[in-house]
Amino acid sequence: MQSINTQFDLIRQSATVAMADRILALKASGHKIIGLQVGDPDFATPPAVMDAALKAMQSGLTHYGPSRGYPDLREAVASKLIRDQKVDYDPASEILITHGGIHAYYLAMQSILNPGDDVLIPDPSWATHSNMVIMLRGNVIRVPAPAENGFIPFFESWERALTPQTCVIVLNYPSNPTGAYPTREYLQRLQDFAANHNLWIVSDEVYGSLYYEEPPTCAAAFDGAKERTLLVNSLSKSYAMTGWRVGFLAAPAQVIENALKASQNSITCVTPFIQKAAAFALTDPENQKVTADMRAAYARRRALVMRIASELESDKVRVIPPQGAFYFFLDLRALKMSSIEMCEKILDEVGVGLVPGSAFGEQGEGFIRMTIAASDEDVEAGFRKIVEWAEGQ
Ligand SMILES: Cc1ncc(COP(=O)(O)O)c(C=O)c1O
Repeated sequence: MQSINTQFDLIRQSATVAMADRILALKASGHKIIGLQVGDPDFATPPAVMDAALKAMQSGLTHYGPSRGYPDLREAVASKLIRDQKVDYDPASEILITHGGIHAYYLAMQSILNPGDDVLIPDPSWATHSNMVIMLRGNVIRVPAPAENGFIPFFESWERALTPQTCVIVLNYPSNPTGAYPTREYLQRLQDFAANHNLWIVSDEVYGSLYYEEPPTCAAAFDGAKERTLLVNSLSKSYAMTGWRVGFLAAPAQVIENALKASQNSITCVTPFIQKAAAFALTDPENQKVTADMRAAYARRRALVMRIASELESDKVRVIPPQGAFYFFLDLRALKMSSIEMCEKILDEVGVGLVPGSAFGEQGEGFIRMTIAASDEDVEAGFRKIVEWAEGQ
């Protein structure tokens, strides 16, 4: 008897994709659109990284490679984790090379979840965090991370959300869509909470290198935390390598063994010449400037938005400065309009592409996500148009 997996009926069509389709249709009919909807750096992948891939390709690395990832890349990841995150993982047993951060998250969840397990996920957060849990037949419990608390859950909210079936807490910081990240003290408290209730913490730190003041503390950088923490990361955002699809999972060896089986039996391996380019990107000293340069460009655009916001003094658009990542989560709740309606109107009436806040959860209603991974000119013109539009409502 044919059947079809009805679990997918529970996954809503992504508002981000719907918006992107609408933008494409408008562009195709000749409209000029300022695209502030994408989550992709507007910088090119460094040429030296491309050369490294080409060299690897020409040396014959165009066949299958090791499913765990090449040892030199796992060593490079381990060194990066010591250098930037101050955590020490064994490249032989605690690191797995993955097809981007999204695949690392999938493998993490697939390795630890059993059907019916409860998963605590802050709201707002990137839709994939919840969708993946649903696909794996877990239950999503959203934990409000309200603007009024800097987009970080009140600690009591974790306690209230806890059930006997709770297996894991999902963190993502700097957050997509808010750019917020918790303090070291908060994370210590959350680690203690996880230890007391025997929970895993899956921490998606793909924006970990993009911060504006102090770097965020890695979720695993606490005494005893490594045994219960699974780190998801990738080269996508930090080295402008979104299309290369390469990332990694760092976790206890027992979890990596499951993740390795899941990866081996689904993708075999990450493309060998891409692994070599990734090892180069992580280790070449010159290449580390790429991340620093992007950080500086995002900081400049962030300051630009803040300057325009204080110049325009809008009481319709409240601007909360992000601490990291490359998004502003603009608060337009004063308009009392759904965020989908706002995004559609802003696109149709003033030609700016955005993502509705409700795509990230109930707490995102009334907000819109605006990227600053776009040229300074587009960020300035787009933001001015949003404020002018809002003032006219
Ligand atoms: C929070 C978050 N995690 C993970 C990813 C996936 O990144 P990757 O390109 O490494 O798969 C994204 C992409 O937008 C993201 O926003």
